[in-house]
Amino acid sequence: MVDLQQQNLLDAKLIMMKAIYPGTFDPLTNGHLDIITRAAKIFDHLIIGVTTNIFKTPLFKIEERVAIVSEVIQDLSNVSVCQFGGLLVDFAQECNAQVIVRGLREPNDFLSEYQMALMNKLQCAKIESVFLVSSSSYHFVSSSLIKEVAGLGGDISKLVPNCVQVLLSEKFAKQK
Ligand code: COA
Repeated sequence: MVDLQQQNLLDAKLIMMKAIYPGTFDPLTNGHLDIITRAAKIFDHLIIGVTTNIFKTPLFKIEERVAIVSEVIQDLSNVSVCQFGGLLVDFAQECNAQVIVRGLREPNDFLSEYQMALMNKLQCAKIESVFLVSSSSYHFVSSSLIKEVAGLGGDISKLVPNCVQVLLSEKFAKQK
C-alpha cells in the first residue's frame, strides 16, 4: 500500500511530460520567448521545433534560426531546439512528445489554431494541443512586423533578444 506522498513521488518519476513548441521563428521574438519560458515551467522537457513554412519565404536560413533559438534558450535547462521538416505530428512522435504548445496572441489566432489543432488531432489522436495566452505586451508582435520595422530603421529593442536585434541590423546592412 503506497501513501499519497509515495504515489506522488512515483508519478513524478514515471510521467515525463514532453512538449513541442513549433514555428518558423524567422526570427524568434520576445513574444515567442514569453511562451517558451512559461511552457518550460509546465512541462518536464520543451523542444522548440524550427521548421520552414511552405507558404513563407524566410529572411534567415533554417540553420540561422536554430542558432538564434539555441543562443536564447541556453539558460533554460529543460529546453532544447531541433529543426524538422514534414508533418508536425510526425516530429512530435519522433521526439516522444505528448503535447504541442501554441501561443494565442489575440482572438483571431484562435480560429487558425483551432483548425490546426483539429487537423493535428486527426493525424495523431494521442497528441494534445495546449494553448498559452500571450502576455499582453506581445499581443501585437509578429516576426514579419519586427522585420519590417527593423528594415526601416525602427526601434525593436524591447521586442526581441539582443542577438536578434544585432543579426537583423547586419542582415539589413548587407542588403543596402
Ligand atoms: N509572440 C510573437 N509572435 C508570435 C507568437 C508569439 N507568441 N506566436 C506566433 N507569432 C507570430 C510568428 O512570428 C509568425 O509571424 P510571421 O507570420 O510574421 O512569420 C505568426 O505569428 C504566425 O505564427 P505561427 O502560427 O506559429 O506560424 P509559423 O509559420 O511560425 O508556424 C507551423 C506554423 C510551422 C507551426 C505550422 O505551419 C506547422 O505545423 N508546420 C508543419 C507542417 C504541418 O504539420 N502542417 C499541418 C499543420 S495542421
